[in-house]
Amino acid sequence: MSKLADKAVVVTGAGGGLGAAYARYLAGLGAAVVVNDVDTTNAEAVAEEIASNGGRAIAAPGDVSQWAFAGSLVEACMEAFGTVTGFVNNAGIFRPALMEDVSEDDFRRMIEVNLFGTAACAQAAAGRMKKLGKGGSIVNVASGSQAGDIALGAYGATKAAIASLTYSWAMELRGSGIRMNAVSPLAETAMAKQNAHLMAVQAQNREVHYAALPPAEANAPLIAFLLSDASAGVNGQLVRIAGRQLSLVTHPMIAAPVLEDDWTLEKIETAFEETLSRHQQKLGLAFVEVHDRVGGKLG
Ligand SMILES: NC(=O)c1ccc[n+]([C@@H]2O[C@H](COP(=O)([O-])OP(=O)(O)OC[C@H]3O[C@@H](n4cnc5c(N)ncnc54)[C@H](O)[C@@H]3O)[C@@H](O)[C@H]2O)c1
Repeated sequence: MSKLADKAVVVTGAGGGLGAAYARYLAGLGAAVVVNDVDTTNAEAVAEEIASNGGRAIAAPGDVSQWAFAGSLVEACMEAFGTVTGFVNNAGIFRPALMEDVSEDDFRRMIEVNLFGTAACAQAAAGRMKKLGKGGSIVNVASGSQAGDIALGAYGATKAAIASLTYSWAMELRGSGIRMNAVSPLAETAMAKQNAHLMAVQAQNREVHYAALPPAEANAPLIAFLLSDASAGVNGQLVRIAGRQLSLVTHPMIAAPVLEDDWTLEKIETAFEETLSRHQQKLGLAFVEVHDRVGGKLG
């Protein structure tokens, strides 16, 4: 198979977990892949493995949260493969903590890696793709936790920010041939294992079957699709893949009903009393609702 033979793609955080699965799958479809990870040994091992299987890959280790490094990552792809057609902002860190426990260091580091890393790389990739003038596809990585979840306030906030960034920058890229989308994956990885205790606690509150998280590889075809020409008409979307379930995620939007008046404090009180209180949005990750609606098990 060489569906992506004309593509050269950077995958960040590809020394393990989902990123490594993406890199292997993309290379298997003929894409040239730049394997980034902050862990040099792991990045090199994945690149070497791909190359030894006949694929095209180089390792470009480094920390995506360093704004200037993002540019050098894109240039590494240019140098090795002569172009850059895709960029997967997969690198991320996960430090769950309740609101009362979250430390400044952990919160700051999640913003730096997850949000700044994604933003810096997306900016660098889009800038280079514009100069090349042949379009391109940038895939960011959000998470179901952006909808809100216990102990995932800080992590989820970085992922919600990534989703929001995707919507805005996809709008700015319209007409350029460069697309920006986001995915919300689900997989058994080192990160998911780190979350095992938390998931067990959460599972008491909802019908989620976390015992059977999908393998990382199950998420890779969606990434290939978004990087391929087959998704040319898809822009600014958040696509969720959760085992056998594939769906789009709604964008935050003004909810009906929209009341109109000159809003005094008294009128707002009455509006809530009579109408808006009954229309409060569902709070938190809506796994149970999805599970009930599709009548199946997640994962
Ligand atoms: N596993 C899931 O179910 C799940 C669900 C939703 C979202 N995600 C997201 O998917 C992505 C991959 O997650 P995973 O489960 O494979 O995690 P993982 O921890 O197994 O792998 C993440 C990789 O990113 C690398 N990394 C960390 N900081 C980096 C940095 N500053 N620069 C470069 N590389 C860095 C790590 O070394 C690691 O190899 C993350 O963005 C994560 O938030 C995962």
